[in-house]
Amino acid sequence: MRGMMLAGGAGTRLFPLSQVSSKQLQAVYDKPMIYYPLATLMTAGIREIHLISSPADLPIFERVLGDGQQWGISLSYSVQPNPGGIAEAVLIGEEFVGDQPFSLILGDNIFHGPIGLDIEVAGFVSGAVIWGYPVEDPQRYGVVEIDSSGSVLSIEEKPNNPRSDLAVPGLYVYDDTAVSRAKELAPSDRGELEITDLNMSFLVDGELRAASLGRDTTWLDSGTHESLLESSNFVASVEKENGYKVACLEEVAFKMGFVSDKEVARTIDSMPLSPYRTYCERAIGG
Ligand code: DAU
Repeated sequence: MRGMMLAGGAGTRLFPLSQVSSKQLQAVYDKPMIYYPLATLMTAGIREIHLISSPADLPIFERVLGDGQQWGISLSYSVQPNPGGIAEAVLIGEEFVGDQPFSLILGDNIFHGPIGLDIEVAGFVSGAVIWGYPVEDPQRYGVVEIDSSGSVLSIEEKPNNPRSDLAVPGLYVYDDTAVSRAKELAPSDRGELEITDLNMSFLVDGELRAASLGRDTTWLDSGTHESLLESSNFVASVEKENGYKVACLEEVAFKMGFVSDKEVARTIDSMPLSPYRTYCERAIGG
């Protein structure tokens, strides 16, 4: 399965930080934010990944992440000229997707713990998969309502009166019909092609499934100053308590078997002396 990461958007909520870099390149504790969703895709075994960002920010992503060879993956890039909505990514990535299923992840979504994306990747046949995560403020998100057997009853974008407390995180798996479905979408009142409308198109055809994120999983959407700080604090505390790093891409690549010990050692050798390098050396036993 292929992967797409959406890392554009205006990022205005993070002003004045947004003048320095795009939201998804801001620090979440000790790494750029984009490392976390990238690690999520890699941990699920996804190795062909397309990143979409704004004209101003795309060159910075290319400089920071490169072609992915250092992690045994292939990274390619496309521009989203204006923030026309999350579902627009599917149209921009049409050529990359081809006739393959793909997973789409938002560049400001951080997952920690088991999410079952690896299971979806291994066993995916057709349709679309979303996840549900219980929150106290569902009005801020896409909201999914499911019945006791796990079937999706409804999905709504930022409803005033949510039918459940299950927010839909920014992680989706689609078959290749997502592209033709996205072409049929009309812009919403806020002028965007809404991802919830794309999911609705699968729901109407009985092709939308919802997986749940269990109690052992944490999901953070890092789009505001508060949530950015919360994400940094979360990662710092997990790393301190457990003694391992979250989303160390060299470690993920090595453990997934994407790179050999010699290849990862070469990558680490090229890093400046830093606590990150010391950790990598220890993590791969070098
Ligand atoms: O975080 C999960 C939520 O993300 C979902 O529950 C909602 O259903 C979904 O619509 C989305 O809601 P947000 O209001 O949080 O979306 P936002 O506009 O903040 O965009 C999310 C990410 O996607 C952010 O990193 C910026 C990026 N983006 C967004 C748009 C609209 C783009 O790269 N291009 C875009 O055109």
